[in-house]
This record gives sequence, C-alpha cells and structure tokens, in this order.
Amino acid sequence: MAFSIIACVGKNLELGKNNDLIFHFKDDMKFFRETTRGHTIVMGLNTWKSLGEKPLPNRQNLILSHAPLTELPENTAQIPDFDTFVKENKDTDEEIFIIGGATIYKIFLPYARTLYLTEVDAEKEADVFFPEFNKEDYDLTTLQSLTENQTNFNINKYTRKEK
Ligand SMILES: NC(=O)c1ccc[n+]([C@@H]2O[C@H](COP(=O)([O-])OP(=O)(O)OC[C@H]3O[C@@H](n4cnc5c(N)ncnc54)[C@H](OP(=O)(O)O)[C@@H]3O)[C@@H](O)[C@H]2O)c1
Repeated sequence: MAFSIIACVGKNLELGKNNDLIFHFKDDMKFFRETTRGHTIVMGLNTWKSLGEKPLPNRQNLILSHAPLTELPENTAQIPDFDTFVKENKDTDEEIFIIGGATIYKIFLPYARTLYLTEVDAEKEADVFFPEFNKEDYDLTTLQSLTENQTNFNINKYTRKEK
C-alpha cells in the first residue's frame, strides 16, 4: 500500500482548533519536512486553507474538495475523485503522504499501511480529532523521544501488521 498518514496528536487524539494547529514543536516540523520532502502530499480543503492556499515547497500538493478549485498554484492539483484516486494509487511503490486534516485522515485510514504519529503527552482544547484506531493492528516503533517547552512527545511509526 502506498499511503502513509502523518499527524501530530494530543493524548485524546486532538488535532486542531479553529482550523489551525494546536501543537508547534520545532523537531516535529523538522521530521514532517524531512519525511515528506520530494513526495506527494494529500490534504483536505480546510487544511489547504489553513496553509493560506500556498503549496508546501518541494512536494506535489494534492487537494480534496467536492467543489472545483480553480487557479491553483504550481505543484498543486485537485484530486478529481477520491475512490478513483485510492484505486489507482493504493498499490504503487511510491509513498504518498496524507497530511490531514481530520476528515481526510478518517477516509484514508483504512488504506494506509503506515502511520507516522507524533504523540504529545498533553491535552489541549480541540474541535477536530484523529480517528480512533486499533493499536493492536500495527507494529509500533518509536523513532524519536523528545521534549520541547517542558512537553514530552514521541514520534511513533505504526506499521500495519500483515493479515
Ligand atoms: N495535527 C495535525 O497533524 C494536523 C494536520 C493537518 C490538519 N490539522 C488540523 O485539522 C483541521 C482541519 O481538518 P478538517 O477535518 O476540518 O478538514 P480537512 O480534512 O482538511 O478538509 C475537509 C474537506 O475536504 C474535502 N473532502 C473530504 N472528503 C472528501 C472526498 N471524499 N472527496 C472530495 N473532497 C473531500 C471537503 O471539502 P468540500 O467541503 O469542499 O467538499 C471537506 O470539507 C485544522 O484544525 C487543521 O489545523 C492538524
């Protein structure tokens, strides 16, 4: 499977509030940049808006929306149809990163082989959450254990167990 999810969540799977991020850790942003650089990234319309409708550099930016999006900048395109996109890409060798937000994580979760989850040891007020998932279905590797601003977080890699 070609889809990898990448997200940063709180203890209760908190993701964001008022269409913005709630966690800002320098080393997490670095991990995100280094992991996704040179790859295709997929996001929902709200996340695209939260980026100020500017593509993340050095990556092919793909956006999901039911409404047609016009005048998209360079290195940016709309995914015409979710089901077709999944069908055409789920078995490619290329790693495609699903970068959010909540709605997009939920629809890609069944197809993602890998979840890169930065799990923050803190609770924050949020209005969007990462979908519940069964940790027993995955092998867990902790890639980094870090502390910033007196807050601990682990960058974890969950790999779906072969059935
Ligand atoms: N913590 C993190 O790692 C992280 C990462 C990214 C984002 N976030 C946060 O997540 C929040 C945004 O999440 P969200 O759930 O509100 O929005 P979102 O997932 O970014 O985008 C949702 C939109 O995607 C479109 N969409 C969804 N399913 C679709 C489908 N099957 N086909 C076509 N289009 C589809 C819809 O747009 P239309 O209404 O136009 O159809 C929908 O309104 C923000 O707070 C953001 O900061 C957090």
